[in-house]
Amino acid sequence: MNVETRMHPASQPSSLEIVPTGAQLGAEIRNVDLRHFDDRAFTSLLGAFHDYSVLLVRGQSLTDQDLIAFSRRFGDLDFAPIQENGRRFVEGLPEIYIVSNVKVNGEAIGSLGAGEAVWHTDMSYLDTPPIASALYALEIPPAGGNTSFCSMYAVYDALPSDLKHRIADLKIKHDGTYNSGGFVRQGVTPTDDPRTSPGAVHPLVCTHPESGRQMLYLGRRRNAYLMGLELAESEALLDTLWTYVARPEFAWEHVWKVGDLVIWDNRCTMHRRDPFDDHARRIMHRTQIKGTQRPQ
Ligand code: OGA
Ligand code: MN
Repeated sequence: MNVETRMHPASQPSSLEIVPTGAQLGAEIRNVDLRHFDDRAFTSLLGAFHDYSVLLVRGQSLTDQDLIAFSRRFGDLDFAPIQENGRRFVEGLPEIYIVSNVKVNGEAIGSLGAGEAVWHTDMSYLDTPPIASALYALEIPPAGGNTSFCSMYAVYDALPSDLKHRIADLKIKHDGTYNSGGFVRQGVTPTDDPRTSPGAVHPLVCTHPESGRQMLYLGRRRNAYLMGLELAESEALLDTLWTYVARPEFAWEHVWKVGDLVIWDNRCTMHRRDPFDDHARRIMHRTQIKGTQRPQ
């Protein structure tokens, strides 16, 4: 970047480019430096976020403060949970959450390890789940650790109409026992009975407050429960619905490079991560945009 553009960040918006992935969701935003861009550029970016649900911006060099400042444009941020050792991931920056397998002096610097993270949406076990999460790649293993996203609009649209009818008024409990890496959340007594496990109850079919489109709101499979049904019936219906999630035609897979930022709409997408070799290092810094309303 030359001095001219650095001095006049307002000259950027005309060059911002939106390149759809061609999949059911996702677009790459090109020609933007997320450290310097103005309200007009942000308006285009937000429009693309609502149209494509997941945005990829490559080639960034963001400090934690830059990542926080960019994320704040979408809304207030959640604080990352306090670790078991009583510390924040990044001292003094409670908004930063680290996703990493790296250990320093035997202690993990972040969450999720090197295993698979199964399909999920973030923190849907809360009454007011986050609007979005942003993940920024600092170190990437030579292979594995790809992240896939799927469109829950596309999944809902694909359901046969009798199935849509059957689920129209159902409510689903989103389990708060396990995270997507299979680890028990802090302060929770593990249980594998979906009827009694802790969690939030949301409508199974929700309408996105910005796009007005309907989507299937599943959260995650483990310990999910369709309220009021016999357990076996709930399990069978959930299994049927999940067969749609697993279809590659509703998904887009991202292969990371250092400097990539991906922000996803947590309301209408789910994501999963491939495992990778635990001897390799993967370090991602992450922010989460606070929810403002219950899914409905
Ligand atoms: C997350 C998450 C997957 C990844 O940050 O919420 O699920 O690719 N991360 O690290
Ligand atoms: Mn996640």
